[in-house]
Amino acid sequence: MGQIVPDAVERYLAGLNRAGDAVLDDLARANQVRQLPLVDAEVGALLRVLATAVGATRILEIGTAIGYSGIWLARALPPGGMLVSMEMDADRAREARENFERAGVSDRASVIVGDAQRMLAKVSGPFDLIFQDGDKRLYTPLLDRLVALLRPGGLLVTDNVLWDGEVVPGFVPAAVRDPVETRAIAEYNEALAIHPQLVTATVPLRDGVSISVKRTA
Ligand SMILES: C[S@@+](CC[C@H](N)C(=O)[O-])C[C@H]1O[C@@H](n2cnc3c(N)ncnc32)[C@H](O)[C@@H]1O
Repeated sequence: MGQIVPDAVERYLAGLNRAGDAVLDDLARANQVRQLPLVDAEVGALLRVLATAVGATRILEIGTAIGYSGIWLARALPPGGMLVSMEMDADRAREARENFERAGVSDRASVIVGDAQRMLAKVSGPFDLIFQDGDKRLYTPLLDRLVALLRPGGLLVTDNVLWDGEVVPGFVPAAVRDPVETRAIAEYNEALAIHPQLVTATVPLRDGVSISVKRTA
């Protein structure tokens, strides 16, 4: 549980989430021990709603890990749709592919293994939705490339933008997270707020999720 949403509210929201997906439930359960920094089911449900709302057929994700958020995104795609997800850790990428297979979405979800800084030059847009959940220090440096890859009216969704409240001056009594990453996220939030091609709102769900729509004019 995080610092932003009170535990009782998180439990209440979790109780309302009836996705009933055996593979996702299994991955979430196994991760209680492993503690990889995956989104939770409520953020997963938000991703699915957003992808469905924009009628996404092409989705890009930065930071696959073992494919948990990717399965949520891929489940929102119609037949023929495609999720392209980037992961620099080869072992995690292999696990993600296995999990996509288990979840029955491997026909619409692929993993590119490598550093997103280089790999982003090799993919071509437009994407309907981009989920940024990779290295926090790269959020701002990659922002303009991601906006260029997004179609007008498409969504850039970013996780961890409240960083357990550490980006909020005076919110936590003692910071525990890497201050370089905290500054990087604070800088990114400012960059989103003034970006001429984006309109952004932030949902204080779990660790903070920002939703930016690319202007059509
Ligand atoms: C927060 S985890 C992603 C969690 C995943 N989105 C989920 O919720 O299921 C971030 C992942 O980004 C990967 N990563 C970090 N820097 C990266 C980079 N430069 N390029 C590609 N992947 C990167 C890490 O190895 C890690 O697995």
